[in-house]
Amino acid sequence: MALLTIRHYPDPVLKQVAEPIGQIDDEVKTLARDMVETMYAAPGIGLAAPQVGVSRRLIVLDCAPQGQPSQLIIAVNPEIIHRQGEHAREEGCLSVPDYCCCTPRAEKVRVRFHDLQGRTVEMDSEGLEAVAFQHEIDHLDGLLFVDHLSSLKKGVFRKKYRKMLKQQEQSP
Ligand code: NI
Repeated sequence: MALLTIRHYPDPVLKQVAEPIGQIDDEVKTLARDMVETMYAAPGIGLAAPQVGVSRRLIVLDCAPQGQPSQLIIAVNPEIIHRQGEHAREEGCLSVPDYCCCTPRAEKVRVRFHDLQGRTVEMDSEGLEAVAFQHEIDHLDGLLFVDHLSSLKKGVFRKKYRKMLKQQEQSP
C-alpha cells in the first residue's frame, strides 16, 4: 500500500471529466486500496481518484463518526440516480485546504455503483454520507464544492485563495 499525493486546486486534473472504468483489474484494486489509505491518513471522509491525479471514475468514502466502526464504501463508476430534498452543510475538501463553505446539496440520494468484485450496488444515503457522495461524484465531473457558490462568492473565494497560496509560497 502506498500513500498518494493529493492534488490541490488549481491543479488542472481537478477540472477534467474522469473516464469510466471498464475492467476492475489489479491496477484499479491497488488504486482503491491506496486511496483508502490516503483518505484515512489525511484524514478525510472521502476521496476521488482525480484528487490523486488519476482521471478515472472511482471514489472512496467513510463517514462513520469518530470512534465508531468504519463504514467504508469503495464505488466504481458511481452515479446518483435519484435526489430528494435540499440540504446545505459546511463542506471542506482535501484538494482545497483551509477553506470551508456551505454548499447546496440534495438531502437524500440513491446511488448506483460497482464494488471491487464488479457487483452492482444500489443504496440510499442521507445526511453527511449523502453530501459526501455528491461531493465526491462532483470530483469525477471536474467540479469542486466551490463551483456551487454564487459568482460573487466564487470571486471572493478565488481572491482569498490566491492570497493564501502566495503567503504559503513566501513562508519557508
Ligand atoms: Ni473534495
